[in-house]
Amino acid sequence: MKKLAFNGSVHSFLDLGQGDVLLFVHGFPLDGRMWRRQAEAFMASHRVLVPDLRGFGQTPLQAGVEKVTMDEFARDLASLLDALGVAEPVTLVGLSMGGYVALAFWKRYPQRLNRLALVHTRAAADSPESAKGRHETATKVMAEGLAVLERAMLPKLLPETATPAVLMETKQMIHASSREGAAAALRGMAQRSDFRAELPSIGIPTLVLAGEHDGIATPTEMAETAKAIPGSSFVTLPGVGHLSPLESPTEFNSALAEFAKTPARR
Ligand code: MLT
Repeated sequence: MKKLAFNGSVHSFLDLGQGDVLLFVHGFPLDGRMWRRQAEAFMASHRVLVPDLRGFGQTPLQAGVEKVTMDEFARDLASLLDALGVAEPVTLVGLSMGGYVALAFWKRYPQRLNRLALVHTRAAADSPESAKGRHETATKVMAEGLAVLERAMLPKLLPETATPAVLMETKQMIHASSREGAAAALRGMAQRSDFRAELPSIGIPTLVLAGEHDGIATPTEMAETAKAIPGSSFVTLPGVGHLSPLESPTEFNSALAEFAKTPARR
C-alpha cells in the first residue's frame, strides 16, 4: 500500500493501473481490502484508487478524535486526489458507509465527479432511535473491543449462504479496525445528513446497486433512491446480502464495468 500524509493523518491507499479513475470507498467496519476483487479486475482498464478511511485498516485515527463525520471522510478523499494530482473528475463507488461518504462528497465537490455508484447504501439519515443505538454501540466498542461489532454486524453484513472464506475475510477486516476508529465513525454516521430531498439534483450518471437479501439497505429502499435520481440505473444482484463485491464479484464487476462505459459528464 502507498502512504501519504494529509489532514493530520498518514493515509494508506492502493493506487493501481492507468486511465480514468475509479475511486472505491469501503463500508463499515471494513477497509479497502473489501475491494480486492474489483482492484484486480479494473486495474487493467482504469486507474484504481482504494483508500482505507481514517480509523480503518492501515490508516490510523489521530489521538483524541472521538467522531469523524461523513464530510470529514469526504474531505480526506478530495485531499487524496489533490495529493495525487488527480484534477479530472472521477467515478466514485461507495458501499454503505462508503455511499454515505460518496453522497457527502457529491454535495461538497460535485465538479470532481463524473459518475456515482451507490452500492448497498441509504440516502436517509438515522432515525433518533438508530442514532442513539450507534452512540451506545460506540461506548460498548470502546469498553469491550471489536468483538462487539463482529457479533452485532456480521449476521447483517452477510447472508447464511456466504462462503466460509468470505466470512473469514470479513471478520479479519472487522478486527483490523481500531476501536477508536470504529467508535468515531459510528458517531459520525449517527449525525449524517438526510440526502433524500437532494437526490433529484444529482446530475451525473448514477448506478444504484442493491442486494436481494440485504437487510441494511433493502432493495425496496434502494429502488426508491434510484427512482429519485434522474436517469439512474438500478440493479439488484440476486442471492447476495450487503457485501456483493465480496459475495458475488463476477456479477458485481460486470454491473460496474457496464456502468463505467456510460458516457460521463465532462
Ligand atoms: C456499512 O456497511 O457501512 C454499515 O452497515 C453502514 C451502517 O451501519 O449504516
